[in-house]
Amino acid sequence: EEATPEETASAQAPGTTGDATSGSATYYRLSIRATNVQLLPGPPTPMVGFAGRFPGPTLKAERGIPTVVTQANDWIENVTIHNHGHKVSAESDGHPVDYILPGKHKNYYYPNDQRAGTYWYHDHTMDLTGAHVYAGLAGFYIIHDRAEDVLNLPSGSYDVPLLLQDRTFKANNELDYFGNPHGWGGPTPVINGTVNPVLNVAARKYRLRLLNGCNARTLNLHFSVQGKPVPFQLIASDGGLLEAPVPMKAITITPGERYDVVMDFANFPVNTVMDLLNDDDPGIEPLLPALMQFKVTHTEVDRATVPPRLSTIDRLHEKDAVVFGTVELGVSADGETWTLNGTTYDPARIDIRSKRDKVTIWTLKNATEFTHPFHKHLVQFTVLDINGQPPPPELAGWKDTVGVPGNGSMRIIFKNEQFSGTYVLHCHRLEHEDHRMMIQESVEP
Ligand code: C2O
Ligand code: CU
Repeated sequence: EEATPEETASAQAPGTTGDATSGSATYYRLSIRATNVQLLPGPPTPMVGFAGRFPGPTLKAERGIPTVVTQANDWIENVTIHNHGHKVSAESDGHPVDYILPGKHKNYYYPNDQRAGTYWYHDHTMDLTGAHVYAGLAGFYIIHDRAEDVLNLPSGSYDVPLLLQDRTFKANNELDYFGNPHGWGGPTPVINGTVNPVLNVAARKYRLRLLNGCNARTLNLHFSVQGKPVPFQLIASDGGLLEAPVPMKAITITPGERYDVVMDFANFPVNTVMDLLNDDDPGIEPLLPALMQFKVTHTEVDRATVPPRLSTIDRLHEKDAVVFGTVELGVSADGETWTLNGTTYDPARIDIRSKRDKVTIWTLKNATEFTHPFHKHLVQFTVLDINGQPPPPELAGWKDTVGVPGNGSMRIIFKNEQFSGTYVLHCHRLEHEDHRMMIQESVEP
């Protein structure tokens, strides 16, 4: 069976219509509803899907052209939808208690005033994000722009988003989920909603947009042919293209992070099967050693290129920083409660104050022995240093989620642009988030 590559939401009848204030916008309407998905032989698996689909339809946007997404809650539980990595108003950010009640809908306004890149939308309901994402509420949101289009990277059907997830199935094919405070991971890979997929590819270059959509599992990925690692080029991180491609043999992706890679299947004869493998660091049991396969089915002329210069990263400079903050990732003395700055989430409380449009440096201190994927809303940041050292090349571009190493510290720099209001920051291991390893930032004008 083939992994379903990206699909657009055209089935949901997007339309482009005039908008009195901002020129034109693209409209989508997605119905969030219970659905049965044929994942395994035997009975279908009850899930919840955007537009009744798992994963949700891939939404595509052009930089600078706003999108309005109407999310209609045709399900029985409260939801709220967050567009991960997006620069949006607090009203459209999918705040954890900004519920869409069953039977109601909400219009989310996305300006798309940001770099081309691989973003994703998912449920963000307080205490239930893990359960809702596990049940199916996640999809890609991809922004394109002119600067990227002219690079001649693999595009169209050679640009394949891969939503990497793990699941546990019961004997009756229902999903098994128990949101314990340490994380939930399953032994079965589900990639773009397909179990153990094989993607047929031509012998040419592909752009693979890797999204770790697992609730809790950090993926340490490499490609392999007959046991031999196959190198690839890393071209983008969370907030879009790196400055230059980076040749790599393996990549670590914590939950919520995205990395785009270019794999050249032209180096292999037809009928070659390539594995995408995962070396689990101890942490989530049972292990997930293999995710999917690629099978080279035919040769093809390849006109795509990976130019030596991909983009310009307009870095913020330490000397321009005027706002400073510290976020400490911790755990209670009994080891049962994960904390940020010694506390847990209370939607009525502001924990960090920062200023709109000012260069800000936060020090992320991890007082636990585990890596936690730290995620900040509203804007992308860059990493200044990790344990005092410059970041490795994969962490040198724009990020919105980053693994903060156990007993380590990291400094990030960013500018909360354009919007003010209340935004959350949290651990993106969803069971940690649901046990309230999350606090609130007030961005003040
Ligand atoms: Cu992907 Cu606050 O989340
Ligand atoms: Cu965590």
